[in-house]
Amino acid sequence: MDALETLDREVRLEELALQAVERELVLIRRTGRPDIVRLHQLLDYARNFEDRAHREKEEDHLFVHIKEHGNPASRFQLDEMARELEKEARLIRVLSEAAGEFKLNVPGTVDPIRDALRDYHDCMRTRIHKEHSYLLPLLRRSLTDEEKGRLEEEFQAVDQGNGGPDAIGKYEKILKQAAG
Ligand SMILES: [Fe+2]
Repeated sequence: MDALETLDREVRLEELALQAVERELVLIRRTGRPDIVRLHQLLDYARNFEDRAHREKEEDHLFVHIKEHGNPASRFQLDEMARELEKEARLIRVLSEAAGEFKLNVPGTVDPIRDALRDYHDCMRTRIHKEHSYLLPLLRRSLTDEEKGRLEEEFQAVDQGNGGPDAIGKYEKILKQAAG
Protein backbone atom coordinates (compact mmCIF):
# COMPACT_ATOMS: atom_id res chain seq x y z
CA MET A 1 0.00 0.00 0.00
CA ASP A 2 1.39 3.44 -0.89
CA ALA A 3 0.17 6.90 0.16
CA LEU A 4 -2.11 7.27 -2.88
CA GLU A 5 -3.80 3.93 -2.25
CA THR A 6 -4.31 4.91 1.39
CA LEU A 7 -5.89 8.21 0.36
CA ASP A 8 -8.13 6.49 -2.21
CA ARG A 9 -9.32 4.14 0.52
CA GLU A 10 -9.99 7.03 2.91
CA VAL A 11 -11.92 9.00 0.28
CA ARG A 12 -14.13 5.92 -0.20
CA LEU A 13 -14.69 5.98 3.55
CA GLU A 14 -15.79 9.61 3.29
CA GLU A 15 -18.22 8.65 0.53
CA LEU A 16 -19.76 6.02 2.81
CA ALA A 17 -20.08 8.63 5.56
CA LEU A 18 -21.82 10.95 3.08
CA GLN A 19 -24.28 8.16 2.21
CA ALA A 20 -24.89 7.53 5.92
CA VAL A 21 -25.67 11.23 6.43
CA GLU A 22 -28.07 11.17 3.46
CA ARG A 23 -29.77 8.09 4.89
CA GLU A 24 -30.28 9.87 8.23
CA LEU A 25 -31.71 12.96 6.52
CA VAL A 26 -34.20 10.81 4.58
CA LEU A 27 -35.19 9.01 7.78
CA ILE A 28 -35.78 12.30 9.61
CA ARG A 29 -37.88 13.61 6.72
CA ARG A 30 -40.00 10.43 6.70
CA THR A 31 -40.36 9.68 10.41
CA GLY A 32 -39.47 12.93 12.19
CA ARG A 33 -36.56 11.36 14.05
CA PRO A 34 -33.03 10.01 13.49
CA ASP A 35 -31.69 6.55 14.23
CA ILE A 36 -29.70 7.68 17.25
CA VAL A 37 -27.49 4.57 17.34
CA ARG A 38 -26.42 5.09 13.71
CA LEU A 39 -25.96 8.80 14.36
CA HIS A 40 -23.53 8.06 17.18
CA GLN A 41 -21.66 5.58 14.94
CA LEU A 42 -21.31 8.32 12.35
CA LEU A 43 -20.08 10.75 14.99
CA ASP A 44 -17.58 8.18 16.25
CA TYR A 45 -16.10 8.06 12.74
CA ALA A 46 -16.27 11.83 12.21
CA ARG A 47 -14.61 12.70 15.52
CA ASN A 48 -12.14 9.85 15.87
CA PHE A 49 -11.07 9.20 12.29
CA GLU A 50 -12.04 11.92 9.85
CA ASP A 51 -11.23 14.85 12.14
CA ARG A 52 -8.10 13.19 13.56
CA ALA A 53 -6.15 10.61 11.53
CA HIS A 54 -7.45 11.61 8.09
CA ARG A 55 -7.22 15.34 8.71
CA GLU A 56 -3.74 15.04 10.21
CA LYS A 57 -2.55 13.08 7.16
CA GLU A 58 -3.87 15.74 4.80
CA GLU A 59 -3.04 18.93 6.65
CA ASP A 60 0.19 18.07 8.45
CA HIS A 61 1.78 15.85 5.78
CA LEU A 62 0.15 15.85 2.36
CA PHE A 63 -0.60 19.58 2.06
CA VAL A 64 2.84 20.48 3.43
CA HIS A 65 4.45 18.18 0.89
CA ILE A 66 2.46 19.57 -2.06
CA LYS A 67 3.19 23.15 -0.99
CA GLU A 68 6.93 22.43 -0.94
CA HIS A 69 6.75 21.39 -4.59
CA GLY A 70 3.69 23.25 -5.73
CA ASN A 71 2.82 26.48 -7.48
CA PRO A 72 0.94 29.44 -5.89
CA ALA A 73 -2.39 28.16 -7.33
CA SER A 74 -2.12 24.85 -5.52
CA ARG A 75 -1.13 26.69 -2.33
CA PHE A 76 -4.33 28.75 -2.56
CA GLN A 77 -6.48 25.65 -3.15
CA LEU A 78 -4.91 23.81 -0.22
CA ASP A 79 -5.40 26.75 2.16
CA GLU A 80 -9.04 26.81 1.12
CA MET A 81 -9.35 23.06 1.73
CA ALA A 82 -7.79 23.49 5.19
CA ARG A 83 -10.38 26.19 6.00
CA GLU A 84 -13.14 23.83 4.85
CA LEU A 85 -11.78 21.06 7.07
CA GLU A 86 -11.92 23.48 10.00
CA LYS A 87 -15.52 24.41 9.16
CA GLU A 88 -16.42 20.72 9.00
CA ALA A 89 -14.81 20.13 12.41
CA ARG A 90 -17.04 22.90 13.83
CA LEU A 91 -20.11 21.26 12.29
CA ILE A 92 -19.16 17.89 13.79
CA ARG A 93 -19.07 19.58 17.22
CA VAL A 94 -22.50 21.16 16.60
CA LEU A 95 -23.89 17.79 15.50
CA SER A 96 -22.40 16.04 18.57
CA GLU A 97 -24.05 18.56 20.86
CA ALA A 98 -27.40 18.25 19.09
CA ALA A 99 -27.22 14.42 19.22
CA GLY A 100 -26.41 14.60 22.95
CA GLU A 101 -29.56 16.66 23.57
CA PHE A 102 -31.87 14.44 21.50
CA LYS A 103 -34.95 13.17 23.35
CA LEU A 104 -37.41 10.68 21.91
CA ASN A 105 -40.83 12.23 21.29
CA VAL A 106 -39.52 15.79 21.72
CA PRO A 107 -39.66 17.13 18.12
CA GLY A 108 -37.75 20.31 19.02
CA THR A 109 -34.64 18.22 19.70
CA VAL A 110 -34.64 16.84 16.12
CA ASP A 111 -34.45 20.16 14.23
CA PRO A 112 -30.90 21.02 15.39
CA ILE A 113 -29.75 17.52 14.36
CA ARG A 114 -31.34 17.84 10.91
CA ASP A 115 -29.86 21.32 10.35
CA ALA A 116 -26.36 20.23 11.44
CA LEU A 117 -26.58 17.10 9.27
CA ARG A 118 -27.56 19.21 6.24
CA ASP A 119 -24.68 21.64 6.72
CA TYR A 120 -22.23 18.79 7.36
CA HIS A 121 -23.53 17.00 4.26
CA ASP A 122 -23.07 20.05 2.02
CA CYS A 123 -19.56 20.67 3.31
CA MET A 124 -18.53 17.04 2.96
CA ARG A 125 -19.95 16.74 -0.56
CA THR A 126 -17.97 19.79 -1.70
CA ARG A 127 -14.78 18.44 -0.12
CA ILE A 128 -15.14 14.96 -1.61
CA HIS A 129 -15.71 16.55 -5.02
CA LYS A 130 -12.48 18.54 -4.63
CA GLU A 131 -10.58 15.43 -3.57
CA HIS A 132 -11.72 13.62 -6.72
CA SER A 133 -11.43 16.51 -9.16
CA TYR A 134 -8.33 18.24 -7.80
CA LEU A 135 -6.35 16.59 -5.02
CA LEU A 136 -6.08 12.98 -6.18
CA PRO A 137 -5.35 13.87 -9.85
CA LEU A 138 -2.67 16.34 -8.69
CA LEU A 139 -1.05 13.62 -6.60
CA ARG A 140 -1.23 11.04 -9.38
CA ARG A 141 0.55 13.51 -11.68
CA SER A 142 3.17 14.79 -9.31
CA LEU A 143 4.24 12.21 -6.71
CA THR A 144 7.23 10.03 -7.47
CA ASP A 145 7.29 6.43 -6.22
CA GLU A 146 9.88 7.42 -3.64
CA GLU A 147 7.65 10.27 -2.38
CA LYS A 148 4.60 7.97 -2.23
CA GLY A 149 6.57 5.53 -0.08
CA ARG A 150 7.86 8.27 2.23
CA LEU A 151 4.40 9.78 2.65
CA GLU A 152 2.97 6.34 3.41
CA GLU A 153 5.50 5.95 6.22
CA GLU A 154 4.33 9.30 7.62
CA PHE A 155 0.68 8.19 7.27
CA GLN A 156 1.43 4.97 9.17
CA ALA A 157 2.95 6.99 12.00
CA VAL A 158 -0.25 9.09 12.11
CA ASP A 159 -2.34 5.90 12.34
CA GLN A 160 -0.18 4.64 15.21
CA GLY A 161 -1.04 7.76 17.18
CA ASN A 162 -4.75 7.57 16.31
CA GLY A 163 -6.31 4.20 17.04
CA GLY A 164 -3.74 2.03 15.24
CA PRO A 165 -3.53 0.63 11.70
CA ASP A 166 -6.83 -1.28 11.99
CA ALA A 167 -8.94 1.82 12.56
CA ILE A 168 -9.78 2.26 8.86
CA GLY A 169 -11.04 -1.34 8.59
CA LYS A 170 -13.14 -0.85 11.71
CA TYR A 171 -14.78 2.29 10.31
CA GLU A 172 -15.31 0.69 6.90
CA LYS A 173 -17.45 -1.97 8.61
CA ILE A 174 -19.35 0.55 10.73
CA LEU A 175 -20.02 2.95 7.86
CA LYS A 176 -21.07 0.23 5.39
CA GLN A 177 -23.79 -0.70 7.86
CA ALA A 178 -24.71 2.91 8.61
CA ALA A 179 -24.88 3.77 4.89
CA GLY A 180 -27.27 0.85 4.29
FE1 LIG B 1 -9.93 13.98 2.72
